[in-house]
Amino acid sequence: MNFNRHRRLRQSAAMRSMVRENQLHVEDLVYPLFVAEGENIRKEISSMPNVYQLSLDLLMEEIDEVVSLGIKSVLLFGIPLEKDECGQGAFHDHGIVQEATRLIKQHYPELIVIADTCLCEYTSHGHCGIVENGKVLNDPSLKLLVDTAVSQAKAGADIIAPSNMMDGFVTAIRAGLDEAGFEDTPIMSYAVKYSSAFYGPFRDAAESTPQFGDRKTYQMDPANRLEAFREAESDVAEGADFLIVKPGMPYLDIVRDVKNNLTLPVVIYNVSGEYSMVKAAAQNGWIDEKSVVMEMLVGMKRAGADIIITYHAKDAAKWLKEN
Ligand code: PBG
Repeated sequence: MNFNRHRRLRQSAAMRSMVRENQLHVEDLVYPLFVAEGENIRKEISSMPNVYQLSLDLLMEEIDEVVSLGIKSVLLFGIPLEKDECGQGAFHDHGIVQEATRLIKQHYPELIVIADTCLCEYTSHGHCGIVENGKVLNDPSLKLLVDTAVSQAKAGADIIAPSNMMDGFVTAIRAGLDEAGFEDTPIMSYAVKYSSAFYGPFRDAAESTPQFGDRKTYQMDPANRLEAFREAESDVAEGADFLIVKPGMPYLDIVRDVKNNLTLPVVIYNVSGEYSMVKAAAQNGWIDEKSVVMEMLVGMKRAGADIIITYHAKDAAKWLKEN
């Protein structure tokens, strides 16, 4: 008889953990938060169980919990009271993300605050840039994104994460940050961002559904792979410090491509729709939530992700502690 006995290395928990190739660590996790202008707001997002819009007066409770779980990093999205044509709330020095950043850094200087840099939560039309005659303009939008990034850095953001998918945003933001004296602030670029239906629940959470059309003229076609290389290579050349691939689960091949071909840390964004699917199935008793979440997250590591942005972060941190 001549065959390989692969089961030798699987025979006990100790043996399996000895040969385990990938491991999820709490340090890998980034927890996204929706901070809302106003008071006494703790509003659960209907399509995202256990994820809340939080006003500043209730934010620190949540941050205390995040920190106590050992999570080292949060990603902030803002929900302003008012929106306008060019999204002024995004780059206001006292905008909601800027104020939330100040508050968090005051209490927890060690916690890494990542600011999402985009206009769509702040524009009345819900697009990620300036709109003219139904078209999202590229270059005029860059200036506003630079202003947003600089105001976030001024407020104390540790990392700037531009998610708008305008061309040249890394170059523009890098130059703007440097000029304002923030040459040490890294850019975590949403380099490879697909136009995805998996963002649906996020748009409920951030109230950022486009009021006309869709985002297909700036976000990528899910059918494309080589385009992901072009996007990622551009961002490397423009000076990005991290590369995000987004969404996560349906794009693990792209994560592996980016990891194999470029040398920057790779971040995967396990997006809202992925979270909602798991939550819905778990609530119906159709899957075992803990096992499924941990399998997904280690799968993302195996695919090449160094860092995982996920709404499951608090649960995953708890489960990691238990083990
Ligand atoms: C803003 C932005 C979006 C997400 C992150 N930043 C939404 C979008 O592009 O429509 C989606 C995140 C998620 O679904 O969890 N541009």
